[in-house]
Amino acid sequence: MINEYWIDSKLCPLIFKYQEVGSTNNVARKLIEENNIGFTVVSEVQTAGYGSADKFWESPRGGLWCSLAIIPKIEIPLVGVIPILSAVAVAEVLDDYNVDTVLKWPNDILLKSNKKKIGGILVEGKTTQMKLNYLIIGIGLNINTTLNQYSPSLQTQIATISEELNIEIDLDILTRKIILKIEEMCKMIDEQGIKSLLDKWRSRNNILGMKVKVQTPEKQYTGIAFNITKYGQLILEIGEKKVTISSGTLSLC
Ligand code: BTN
Repeated sequence: MINEYWIDSKLCPLIFKYQEVGSTNNVARKLIEENNIGFTVVSEVQTAGYGSADKFWESPRGGLWCSLAIIPKIEIPLVGVIPILSAVAVAEVLDDYNVDTVLKWPNDILLKSNKKKIGGILVEGKTTQMKLNYLIIGIGLNINTTLNQYSPSLQTQIATISEELNIEIDLDILTRKIILKIEEMCKMIDEQGIKSLLDKWRSRNNILGMKVKVQTPEKQYTGIAFNITKYGQLILEIGEKKVTISSGTLSLC
């Protein structure tokens, strides 16, 4: 570990910073057994980072690879809203750096200018006896990286903030801002309900009203992205029918 430090957050006050780990989500899952407060694991490099559908997530030096481990007091069905909440929080923080993004359900953060992926969010949790024990919010962002640090096949699909906007962002400051924004949004849904969060997501998404394909572990659906529910599920309009999907990989047709 490089160091361990505290920030002014109630949700996630402690940060564990590493030079290299397999996956920050896995490290966070191990550390949660020994910590009864929220914390964040950050690593300069990940050698075995993973994303949705267990896909390898390339995590070279210069990116932000972090996992927030939180012990939330929310109902289990609301867990589906956490990826949405986190994506909106990241997008709002990136606004501060004049990085304009759009959100693709369920977990992609794309650059508004060219719709290339600059980041993703992977939320994992543990429940026992219908009780939520913890949640891990894994966030990966291509910040101060260059495309030649990624494999050739990925280079055509993604973008990096430093290359697109010619800026360099301090990753410690960015991490703190993201944690505080997630905390602010949790407070917002606590006080005002879920609607304001969903409205924020709707105003930033690039899929509603579009024809999309969604691959779930069971089945592939094609239809019009109609809306998202208060539990973060996607409502797809397929002909006369509406289908609600909890997770999957979405592509625009
Ligand atoms: C996706 O778009 O598929 C989600 C990607 C999530 C990647 C992050 S990087 C930090 C954390 N550690 C991991 O192994 N995955 C998440």
